[in-house]
Amino acid sequence: MAGNKTFTMLKPDAVSKGYTGEILKQITGSGFRIVALKMTQMTEQDAKTFYEVHKERPFYGELVDYMTSGPIVAAILEKENAVDDFRTLIGATNPEEAAEGTIRKKYAASISENAIHGSDSDENATIESNFHFSGREQF
Ligand code: PPS
Repeated sequence: MAGNKTFTMLKPDAVSKGYTGEILKQITGSGFRIVALKMTQMTEQDAKTFYEVHKERPFYGELVDYMTSGPIVAAILEKENAVDDFRTLIGATNPEEAAEGTIRKKYAASISENAIHGSDSDENATIESNFHFSGREQF
């Protein structure tokens, strides 16, 4: 059975361009409840660990540099079928391929600066949530 929580980060490009409020409004307006929220900046070690699964991919270094380049907004979201519904809401990794109205279509500049992250499985949602939030920061 699909879980009811997912994890997201508004990435440095979206935060620096001032899209945080609009994106959070679209997320909550789509039925997700925010159960944890913070603005933070990832260290190089944070980003390397978070994206370790992609370490053999050619863009890994670029991804780590980008994700540490400025503040992000991290959140845990609750909704029935959260992981899949949130991936639909954010759209394809490459904004040029993202559906109209999705967050990446509206706010992402490119495949490397693509505005927002969403967990790709229930298992990773739990791992990523616990990476960024302690137990007493999750409501
Ligand atoms: S996904 O969402 O995991 O299915 O997407 P995937 O294509 O496997 O990409 C994994 C993460 O790497 C980011 N990405 C890139 N960064 C920089 N340059 C290029 N070319 C690139 N392609 C993919 C992508 O946004 C994924 O990060 P997250 O944070 O999961 O969105």
